Amino acid sequence: MQVIIDFVGDQFLNADLKVFTAFQKNSPAPAKGKTNTAKPTSSVSIDHWKDQGLKEEFRGLKSAATFKAAKDETLSFTGATGETVWVVGLGDRTKFSAEDLRKVVAKIFRGAKSSKFTKIAFDVPGLNTLKNEVLAVKLMAESMGMTDYTFDKYKSKKSEAVESIVIFSHVEKKNKVNIDKALASVKNLTESINLIKDFVNEAPNVLHSEEYARRIEADVKKNLKGVKVKILNKAAIQKEKMGLFLSVNAGSGYEPRLVHLTYEPARATSKTKHIALVGKGITFDTGGYSMKPAANMAGMKNDMAGSATVYGAFRAAVLEKAPVKITCILAITDNAVNSFATFPDAIVTGRNGKTVEILNTDAEGRLVLADAIDYACDQNPHYIIDAATLTGACLVALGNQVCAILGNDQKWMNEIMDAAKAQDEYMWQLPIINEWRQDIKSKVADIKNIGSPMRAGTAIGAAFIEEFVKNDIKWAHLDVAGVVEAQSHLPYCSAHGASGLIVRTLTHLLVNGK
Ligand code: BES
Ligand code: MG
Ligand code: ZN
Repeated sequence: MQVIIDFVGDQFLNADLKVFTAFQKNSPAPAKGKTNTAKPTSSVSIDHWKDQGLKEEFRGLKSAATFKAAKDETLSFTGATGETVWVVGLGDRTKFSAEDLRKVVAKIFRGAKSSKFTKIAFDVPGLNTLKNEVLAVKLMAESMGMTDYTFDKYKSKKSEAVESIVIFSHVEKKNKVNIDKALASVKNLTESINLIKDFVNEAPNVLHSEEYARRIEADVKKNLKGVKVKILNKAAIQKEKMGLFLSVNAGSGYEPRLVHLTYEPARATSKTKHIALVGKGITFDTGGYSMKPAANMAGMKNDMAGSATVYGAFRAAVLEKAPVKITCILAITDNAVNSFATFPDAIVTGRNGKTVEILNTDAEGRLVLADAIDYACDQNPHYIIDAATLTGACLVALGNQVCAILGNDQKWMNEIMDAAKAQDEYMWQLPIINEWRQDIKSKVADIKNIGSPMRAGTAIGAAFIEEFVKNDIKWAHLDVAGVVEAQSHLPYCSAHGASGLIVRTLTHLLVNGK
């Protein structure tokens, strides 16, 4: 899909669908110093439309008289030259937000696609609540970039692609540089988001650990110039004494992989911040000997989504030439069973020398993260973020809309939550209290990998991981179990399959210096 910014209007003319927006009339005027010229027949504010002819046509419509421009109210008519025109209500101008724009544009895009329009043109709304049009164009392109995703590689019948989107700009042409820059950033971001959605959606018989690492390596080599790639195979992981990571891989037909990527900005100094991203990459989670019941097992191909999320953010941040040093560590294996698989009751030593009583082999994410985080600490980052589909308890606590954040440094967590807010992604902090740290003490080893049944599961998982953060490094843990899939409330995500959420938050954090 191509996004074209049209300053003149000639591209706009050729579209088969033209989309206009309207605010409710009780809203304030669109721009300072402009008078409201709408005729009394129209009860909505459309002064911002650039196409004067269609403006008149709309005002002449009988149906326009009852059109109130309430949020999502849509009026359709055929223009004088035969094109379809949609007028979409945006509600109260003063309440209209960036996220509202993402959502409405995604809905329009889906509607246009299902009505088989291939050349869609938008007359940019007078979004004066969004401060400037460059931002509006950016959000529109971002929304459509995310929405324009289908995972149909295994379908005999593919869905038809939208050819082009024309955005009829209201800004002076001299602003073109800013718009071009914004669109290039959007492309970096949405391509990264859609790539990792492919990883998450890919079937586990295809995307096993070895193949996943190969695909990431190929993508880095092709698209991320200057990034150092190191991939540890089983022998190298054994050499690193990552006993916990290996215990999860013990029952697998595939080798584990530890992907280690490093990016340094061009003008790095001794003051440059260094952030390590660590991701849980379980390509399929059967639960191991503590096996999941069938109903809970299907869907566990997404148990590598934490790793995909951090890789997506790493990728976008590198393409955006983020001003920070970034280490990205992905711990990849499946959690399967054979006669070598780890038994519940096993006692295993981690890379940092701590012994762990593995009482439940389904609490495997924390085991792979434990060794990966200890390894990440040895790269001397100032900050660590790990992302993992760690606990079903996270869905109980926060539903499938909110990402949980826990950690050892409030300021660091606040910065991440601020980034989430800036990107309109839901994130909420859960505590780690000392009592829960006590709950993972083992009678026979240093710690055990589960706490009391049905008690604060998400925080127990975080308390376990915290044991492996060393050198007082500031660390935050994101439990993305709920948000990586099925976001039916967000029209720019698919109703089923990978959501690509949290990539925006992390990219924002990295690109803005942290
Ligand atoms: N991958 C699961 C967590 C999960 C469950 C993610 C449902 C998404 C949806 C994780 O490895 C797991 O099995 N966790 C256990 C931990 C328990 C054994 C302490 C869980 O949540 O039941
Ligand atoms: Mg599990
Ligand atoms: Zn898991």
